Amino acid sequence: QKLGIIGAPITIAQPNMGVDLGPDAIRHADLVERLKNLKITINDYGNVSVPMTGTNQIDPETSLKNLNEVSQGNENIAEKVKEIKSKGDFPLILGGDHSIAIGTIAGLHHHYQNMGVIWYDAHPDLNTGQISPSGNIHGMSLAASIGIGHDRLINLGGKGPKVDPKNVVIIGARSIDEGEKEIIRENGIKVFTMHDIDRLGMDYVMKNSIEYLEEQTDGVHLSLDVDGIDPAHTPGTGTPVEGGPSYRETRYAMQLLHESDLLTSVEVVEVNPLLDNQNKTAEVAVDMLTTLFGEKYL
Ligand code: ARG
Ligand code: MN
Ligand code: MN
Ligand code: MN
Repeated sequence: QKLGIIGAPITIAQPNMGVDLGPDAIRHADLVERLKNLKITINDYGNVSVPMTGTNQIDPETSLKNLNEVSQGNENIAEKVKEIKSKGDFPLILGGDHSIAIGTIAGLHHHYQNMGVIWYDAHPDLNTGQISPSGNIHGMSLAASIGIGHDRLINLGGKGPKVDPKNVVIIGARSIDEGEKEIIRENGIKVFTMHDIDRLGMDYVMKNSIEYLEEQTDGVHLSLDVDGIDPAHTPGTGTPVEGGPSYRETRYAMQLLHESDLLTSVEVVEVNPLLDNQNKTAEVAVDMLTTLFGEKYL
């Protein structure tokens, strides 16, 4: 099987300059070379074109920032993901802010009856315009994928919800807005907060998540937000939250995912080289990705 890489440089679903450089920063950190050492065949399709112009204004009608532009960019991403998936490639999408998950999941969902998602993130991204503290669509992508939020976002790349909320596992959450807590409860979304990881350990959390999704899904997408990892390791990101899983815990989680052979697509998001320290965050992202695809210490 070939790995199909696409860059998805949406940046206007969050306010910081620089997330659009994420795909290039990750490529610069030797992603392709490291994967080729694993004898993996790679197609790098370059970056999808997405609107770069936006403002930091909340539209009073929708309570969202840059809805048209973010929707258009995500339509393009959904199209490209769908296309490379149809060719039989294993999609690896490089963000870009986390709004791109709306597009990737929409593009992928055509290929599954019962797709699952692992959302490795400090945030659940379950806001809507009405409950969001910021109006930033990168904090609303998981909500849109399960069918909650603005019509344009829900119906992007195909009508209606793309993933059953019961097929979602959120791992590493430690910054959950009040409205998001309600959505989690109402939809029965499985969440391992940092508290759960401390109490149970990453080994249990990952094995339990893998078992849960294996039983009820026919494909699993990993959405890896680099702010899921502790900011000591991934400082180059726009919404860092203290107290996350370490580099080691996260790398071990990726190792378990590799061994499980569960994943059918992966994306890594929110790498912002302008906020980073010598591309450290992109390098950590690459270590996580290569581990996921079978790189070992020995
Ligand atoms: N919960 C906050 C918001 O909705 C932060 C979201 C951060 N999301 C992310 N993908 N980094 O504005
Ligand atoms: Mn996120
Ligand atoms: Mn996050
Ligand atoms: Mn559909």
